Amino acid sequence: MSNVGVVGIQWGDEGKGKIIDILSEYADVIVRFQGGANAGHTIVVGGKKVILHLIPSGILHEKKYCIIGNGVVLDPGILEQEINDLKSIGYIKDDKRLMISGLTHIIMPYHKKLDMLRESKKKNKIGTTGRGIGPAYEDKVSRMGIRVIDLLDKKMFSDMVKENLEIKNFIIKKYYKDQPFKAREIIKSYEVYRKLLKKYTTDTTQFIHKCQQEGKKMLFEGAQGTYLDVDHGTYPFVTSSNTVSGNIFSGSGAPPTSVGYILGICKAYTTRVGEGPFPTELSDETGERIRKIGGEYGATTNRPRRCGWFDAVIVRRALKLNGVKGLCMMKLDVLDEFDKIRVCTKYKLGNRFLTDPPMATTSYPKCEPVYEDIDGWNSPTRGITSYGDLPLNARKYLKRLEEIVGVNIDIISTGPERESTIVLKNPFE
Ligand code: GDP
Ligand code: IMO
Ligand code: MG
Repeated sequence: MSNVGVVGIQWGDEGKGKIIDILSEYADVIVRFQGGANAGHTIVVGGKKVILHLIPSGILHEKKYCIIGNGVVLDPGILEQEINDLKSIGYIKDDKRLMISGLTHIIMPYHKKLDMLRESKKKNKIGTTGRGIGPAYEDKVSRMGIRVIDLLDKKMFSDMVKENLEIKNFIIKKYYKDQPFKAREIIKSYEVYRKLLKKYTTDTTQFIHKCQQEGKKMLFEGAQGTYLDVDHGTYPFVTSSNTVSGNIFSGSGAPPTSVGYILGICKAYTTRVGEGPFPTELSDETGERIRKIGGEYGATTNRPRRCGWFDAVIVRRALKLNGVKGLCMMKLDVLDEFDKIRVCTKYKLGNRFLTDPPMATTSYPKCEPVYEDIDGWNSPTRGITSYGDLPLNARKYLKRLEEIVGVNIDIISTGPERESTIVLKNPFE
């Protein structure tokens, strides 16, 4: 029995939250290992929608432990809100179920401000979520970041805020001509978070090692998607963390030998929110139709998501990068009413055909997708729970996708609800 990692295969919002919620039933511990409140993971239970930004999507299962790992950048205000919201609907009755690594870096008000100021001034905007993610990871790497463990030490926190503000305020005032922060106010406003975080902070690495020793089952929850990875994505139109499965280990402290199954989550088409290249994007009526039927609006910022056909070029690379053993094909039902469905099998760049994405991000817009047309099924799949009940053409579409990308589909999703799922192979079993 091995532990399972779940990662996004496209540009995020593939439906990771739904699948993690379902698989949490089979796990003892669920661990977030990167990203921050830029993520928006949607779970629909009993007709009610819950959107989680920081807390792992396993939290709706009583008795399961949920960990925010060291690789996350944590906004304490959003955490507080999320805990209160979950408590108000009857979850997290036992506070011991939620654990936060003391090594997790904290998002500060100046991170959010710098994120927004930078975006507003930039010519080539990234379209960030404005949650301070980039500036917080920059501070971490430049060894100026403030971690949960530093916040818990009153004096240390106060000194660090003052030291940081000397530089941040200089940039804010001199470069962006905006209002500086007052150290006193930040220090005071974070006192409440010290109390909150104290309750949940622990050596999560040690806890994970203990779970590993005791044979407990762990589920690692990725945020964002492979093409938002700071190394492997469409740089600079990416987030500021590694989103690929390789980061499970540095972002949590679990050893690489502890995960035996990587599950890749992808949509039966493609979406992207924010700026950056997107070869199969449909800027026409068909794209609008997918957006409307799929409810493709960002779970964090409510921005309309850009929509397009399934891109096997990016998926194939992502499957290799992440070592994906099985795929979840999400939102099949969104394609129910299309006569023809297109799949991009390769790109044409000048007089060459590419089966892998180009290395230079600037080459993406020059790539022309080469499509294979597949007959639609024109009948409802919404809520179908058994493979045999899927229309023949829907099964043909899935089989063809498996052939084109070279990995088996383990799970098919036919609606946002937990129940609207076809499980062909449970990675925990
Ligand atoms: P995540 O960030 O990867 O967790 O994905 P999001 O929650 O941001 O976006 C996925 C959206 O699709 C959410 O609104 C889900 O409720 C919804 N969803 C998930 N699976 C399905 C499905 O199979 N069909 C439909 N129609 N919606 C789905
Ligand atoms: P989940 O986990 C989709 C995108 C932003 C922007 C870029 C950088 O829900 O799949 P950032 O705020 O991270 O600096 O923004 O990354 N982005 C996401 N897009 N889903 C997400 O998370 C995302 N998190 C960040 O839109 O283009
Ligand atoms: Mg999302």
